[in-house]
Amino acid sequence: MAEAWWAVARSEEVTSAKPINVDIGNQPVVLWRDAQGIVRALEDRCPHRRTPLSLGCVLGNGMIQCGYHGWTYDGATGHLKDIPNLKSDVKFPPVYRAIPFAVSETGGFVRVCLDANAPAPLPAAVTLPLCGTVNVALDHEHYIAALFDDPSAVIGIRGVRFTPYLLAELAEHEGKLVLERSCQWAGLHWPSPFSSDFPITLRISTDPVTGECDLLLRDDGFHPLLSATLAPVPAARGVTQIRWRAKLSDNRPGMRAKLLGAGPPFFVRSNIDGAALRVLKPSASIHAATLRNEIAARTAAASAA
Ligand code: FES
Repeated sequence: MAEAWWAVARSEEVTSAKPINVDIGNQPVVLWRDAQGIVRALEDRCPHRRTPLSLGCVLGNGMIQCGYHGWTYDGATGHLKDIPNLKSDVKFPPVYRAIPFAVSETGGFVRVCLDANAPAPLPAAVTLPLCGTVNVALDHEHYIAALFDDPSAVIGIRGVRFTPYLLAELAEHEGKLVLERSCQWAGLHWPSPFSSDFPITLRISTDPVTGECDLLLRDDGFHPLLSATLAPVPAARGVTQIRWRAKLSDNRPGMRAKLLGAGPPFFVRSNIDGAALRVLKPSASIHAATLRNEIAARTAAASAA
């Protein structure tokens, strides 16, 4: 987890006007943009009296100032730079240093790694224009499991009904957990739930550590209809914070345009139906833990060699 890159914010959410607080598990993080527009990330605790730095402000020079006694920190290093009313010949005690984290901004997401020396992640090719942020009262592991077992428990695509049928079992492909699910157009009469006509499929490609997913909805000719990235991050007290970005394909003629274009094409549920979740049987997710362990063991062996 320490070396993972977590998509903790969308680019639009981080400004130089006001610092924001995010979590990676139980680790609070403060984010803001400095005077050059670079996103900075520090532990969201002032080293002086543990006040959240996110309650402070961003100064004109791009440094962050604690709201309690006004101590000021450099975002790149976490070094203490100013204490109000301190005599000019007094040196800052080096013990007062905020913990800096590695930051990368790509594809419209701000990603943070708790290991400040981690190599940067690969840049994303595009920034998908539709976006949102949702907090759900469900822990990260169970959120991903629900997405694997029944996407409709946690997300929705306008005009599309997810079926229980998979094209194949959840499998590893190039280090990702990949699942392809048959779907139908919603609102049409289907003669039987066992209809063999599945004109659309949803491919979910998931990072085994962070659970960040690329979703691809395709028609029966394998033409893309909708692309989305879903980035769930574990937060405090069992909450999962989800940032997402999506884009409808430009080429979706006839019925597809009508159904997919009738409203917000993609949404993430903020309220999860607990009754439905309770009776949701593990299906695809039962393979995920095994695959994740295999990938983690292989990665550890490779880094030890
Ligand atoms: S608690 Fe931050 S400056 Fe005192």
